[in-house]
Amino acid sequence: MLSTRGKKLTGMLDEPWRFPLSRVAMFNATSNPSGLISFGTAENSLVYDELTAYVNRNVQFDKSVWSYGYSSVGGKEFPAAMAGHINKYFDPIVPVKGSDILATNSVPTLSELLAFTLADAGDAILLSRPVYGRFEIDWGNRPGLKTIYADTEAVESFTPAVARKYEEALVAAEARGVKIRVLIIVNPHNPLGRCYPRETLIEIFKFCQKHQIHLVSDEIYALSVFNSGESGTVPFTSTLSIDPTGLIDEKLLHVIYGMSKDFSAPGLRIGCLISKNPQVQKAVRSTSALESDWQPATASQRGSFARTTFPICQERE
Ligand SMILES: Cc1ncc(COP(=O)(O)O)c(C=O)c1O
Repeated sequence: MLSTRGKKLTGMLDEPWRFPLSRVAMFNATSNPSGLISFGTAENSLVYDELTAYVNRNVQFDKSVWSYGYSSVGGKEFPAAMAGHINKYFDPIVPVKGSDILATNSVPTLSELLAFTLADAGDAILLSRPVYGRFEIDWGNRPGLKTIYADTEAVESFTPAVARKYEEALVAAEARGVKIRVLIIVNPHNPLGRCYPRETLIEIFKFCQKHQIHLVSDEIYALSVFNSGESGTVPFTSTLSIDPTGLIDEKLLHVIYGMSKDFSAPGLRIGCLISKNPQVQKAVRSTSALESDWQPATASQRGSFARTTFPICQERE
């Protein structure tokens, strides 16, 4: 009944370590005491009551939300509000504008669109190990990219020396005829829960520039950090906060963000691309469902939307 690729897709869900456990397998103190507890999903359900109450109190919808243009690649309001959030918390070297941001229905969707945009089937992404397991699927399944892992010990990924490990992996891949197009990092890191020091990010910038490969920095946990009080801990440094001059062409740098972790709202399925590369933006727009030049009727209406969605964020342009 299904195509070869359709069958392959159904098989992916059966890989137990990648996806949340089925209800049958899940631990329950009374009904399934020998079940398994999944640490595979980063979801904070403890705040759902507060979140529901807050949204129900504060959000009203205007009739324009039912139009195609309101939310295609995020529409206008959402990227502007998100730019305010990024400018407030990521300390970007140049303030981010709404027009630098595209929104898609989740980070995996965005990863796939980027995969189609930045590489051809048979090319590869480069990652350190261990890492969030979906990259292999999102960049590999339909776009057909290979995944190359640098031979890193866990904490080594955060040291400037990681650039040498990336170099070795790249040289070995190229010797096998595999072209690496994209290096992906997760900062703050999943699963290691650490942030990248600035000097390591700088070495990674230089590595990507040297080989002209794209750097995709998944910063979805940007605000999910806390001060443990231990000495020697590293605070979050966004790649957007480092002056790229002389280190990396800013057109090679793309940041991924979303609502699932810092806003505890994975059910909203929102992923954001922050990129100053107009060609990349154009290609991602063209492959996301629809594009639109829609604008809300009046400036005051625009302002009230941004305030309603994110009361704490005002765009700084
Ligand atoms: C590093 C990382 N990126 C992306 C995602 C997924 O984002 P989304 O909730 O948009 O599917 C996760 C979810 O666990 C993650 O850990």
